[in-house]
Amino acid sequence: MILAKENDLVLLISHDRKRYMLTLRAGDRFHTHKGIVEHDEIIGQPLGREIQSHLGQSFMILQPSLYDLLMNLKRSSQIIYPKEIGPILLRMNVGSGQRVIEAGTGSGALTLALAHSVRPDGMVYSYETRADMLTVARHNLERVGLARYVQFMQRDIAEGFTESDVDALFLDVREPWDYMPQVCEALADGGSFGALVPTCNQVSWLLSEMERQPFTSIEVMEVFERMYKPVPARLRPADVMVGHTGFLVFARKVALIPETEDDQAADQAAHEDLPAPPDDLTDPDQRPPG
Ligand SMILES: C[S@@+](CC[C@H](N)C(=O)[O-])C[C@H]1O[C@@H](n2cnc3c(N)ncnc32)[C@H](O)[C@@H]1O
Repeated sequence: MILAKENDLVLLISHDRKRYMLTLRAGDRFHTHKGIVEHDEIIGQPLGREIQSHLGQSFMILQPSLYDLLMNLKRSSQIIYPKEIGPILLRMNVGSGQRVIEAGTGSGALTLALAHSVRPDGMVYSYETRADMLTVARHNLERVGLARYVQFMQRDIAEGFTESDVDALFLDVREPWDYMPQVCEALADGGSFGALVPTCNQVSWLLSEMERQPFTSIEVMEVFERMYKPVPARLRPADVMVGHTGFLVFARKVALIPETEDDQAADQAAHEDLPAPPDDLTDPDQRPPG
């Protein structure tokens, strides 16, 4: 039996399935339109038990899952959603003890999942140009007790990464194709590369640039998720569905072998047909609302 303790982050679920996340502090009160819940009435209770508000409304006390933590973080940017984060962690083989780079930090959704996966001995190096984004992301990681597994860096990745031989590197920036030399410099041979981009054109530009680099096992994927209404007698899909979030691109880095002149000529010819990416990618439709 696990008891809820002071300073624990807990999830309260009401009968109409609304979810509330709070950090338990002795003497505090949690206000909802279903009544007030005293933190002291949760502290010491076994997880999985129901408690009642002063209006007699019931709430189930649970430990938040990684999914709950991701869906509850404060957002200052578009985030990477759990449906993509699952495949990112699996495809890039992110696990305990690893050293992983990501950029940009944004709100820290992927940072949170990476930190959760590399603990207790690994480290996430998270790069971001904007100080305001880093403040929000740091707050999000501190709130869930995972900030100690992240080194936040305010730096443009065009200047390169300060780490080398990292196990995995993920880019969630607008023009990932611009940073392929820096990526290959930081990744260990055999390490995993991943990127998320919202449009097909961006996938093409990224692939085109990746072909010039020592990558193998290049994959492009899109993840669809369809939720169902969990009613046994009328089981059917939920009414609305997220149409599109982004495309995922994955690859593994191989050890560099010096190119011959013939290889360079063939490489040049292969890239002549593809139109160059525009200088300015300010299309507001770059990233659909999630
Ligand atoms: C869409 S957000 C990242 C969201 C994040 N992956 C998450 O799950 O919360 C993209 C971020 O990349 C940052 N960024 C863009 N170009 C960058 C660069 N060259 N170096 C570092 N950060 C960059 C932006 O400031 C922005 O905050």
